[in-house]
Amino acid sequence: MHQSIIHLLSLCAGVLGQGPSHPHGPPSGPWPSARPWSGQANKAIYFLDDNPSGSSIVSMQVSANGTISNPQRTSTGGKGSIASDGTAPLARDALISQGSVIVGGEYLFTVNAGSNTLAMFSIDPQDASRVTLVGAPASTLGEFPMSVTYSDTLNMACVLNGGAKAGVTCFHVDRQGGLQPTGSFLSLAGITNETTPPVGPPESSSQILFTPDSSALLVLQKGNAGPPVSPGYIVAYPVVNGRVSGNSVKNQFANVAMPFAGVFVDNDRVFMADPSYGASIFEIPSDLELVQQTHVVLPTQKAVCWSAYDASLNTAYAIDAGQPLVYTFDPSSGAQTGSFSPDESVQGLFDSAISDGKMYSLAAANGIVVMDLVSQTQVQFYNLTSFGNRQYWDGMAVSW
Ligand SMILES: *[C@@H]1O[C@H](CO)[C@@H](O)[C@H](O)[C@H]1NC(C)=O
Ligand SMILES: *[C@@H]1O[C@H](CO)[C@@H](O)[C@H](O)[C@H]1NC(C)=O
Ligand SMILES: *[C@@H]1O[C@H](CO)[C@@H](O)[C@H](O)[C@H]1NC(C)=O
Repeated sequence: MHQSIIHLLSLCAGVLGQGPSHPHGPPSGPWPSARPWSGQANKAIYFLDDNPSGSSIVSMQVSANGTISNPQRTSTGGKGSIASDGTAPLARDALISQGSVIVGGEYLFTVNAGSNTLAMFSIDPQDASRVTLVGAPASTLGEFPMSVTYSDTLNMACVLNGGAKAGVTCFHVDRQGGLQPTGSFLSLAGITNETTPPVGPPESSSQILFTPDSSALLVLQKGNAGPPVSPGYIVAYPVVNGRVSGNSVKNQFANVAMPFAGVFVDNDRVFMADPSYGASIFEIPSDLELVQQTHVVLPTQKAVCWSAYDASLNTAYAIDAGQPLVYTFDPSSGAQTGSFSPDESVQGLFDSAISDGKMYSLAAANGIVVMDLVSQTQVQFYNLTSFGNRQYWDGMAVSW
């Protein structure tokens, strides 16, 4: 039991998922910041080259049929950092998070985990693969920033720091001036007790996300699948008078050890993948005392660490890093409806984003898998071996 759980949890980080055994920005969907531009003629995907000697955003052009090409780097103005499994830097899943790269409105945001800064880019409306830093990267006031979220309504970005100085910092987003801190640092001391860089995935921070109506901000914090089980947290901060209040509600569920990756499936319900068992849907009432509506155990999953949602297909996805497998869910009932697989050679699926019926996923192998969500088949594997080091890839986002 102990061994098998340790085994599957390390798979999120790709420590053990090397063999082609058979047999996961943030996701798109009702992301509070998704604001499609009209007249768009182009599209791009983005991920982070989380390089400790200097990070870049890698952008790739998306063709009309959804295939990707032409990776190019743009400096984030900072350095990357890589979480540890306790003995060595992780081979994959460097930031042990979801949402390290996000598109919000007309901007792209990412973290510089080794510089403790947040970077903001503008996206060229004529060529979405061209991104330009707006202002200087801003101090996150903590250590090891790993996940970011944006509210168009509040004109605000908030970042989750998951290192020795852990907590949330929010920024006013200014088209010319970039990021200006707003409000105070909201410490997560008592919720997490990490080093910089952190050791994980167990007991590390995971993701930050605004609710679609920007009435609250959630922070996902992993616990430990044990034994003994130590439940994770879903910390909910109310937004009061346009500011994130530190008056948070610290939700815990005895059967939710590793809340890794959440995505909203409607205004007040979030679908969450948890590699210690499967996936759940939580309702977020106005008092922020979360209600676990569904809890689906996936017996064959190895490491469902990432999640995504497609509004047009009304389907939620739990994405397995330990094997090339995607589980599908009905967001209304919360029931699992099926699963599908890309080629075995991709080995496992990490940070993912959806656009126009295609899912773009970092693979365990060094490349990106494009899957068609209607036919549930792989349409492309873009091999990045000649482009760079798989260990540094993290996050996935799509322009619009
Ligand atoms: C998709 O579009 C690309 C670029 O135009 C092209 O090279 C590729 O053959 C197309 N693939 C399919 C399956 O139509
Ligand atoms: C935090 O971790 C340190 C070192 O691992 C340990 O000494 C300390 O007791 C821990 N604090 C809490 C509150 O768990
Ligand atoms: C990617 O290309 C490298 C170098 O050619 C090759 O060794 C590797 O098998 C390829 N990966 C996949 C998943 O096809």
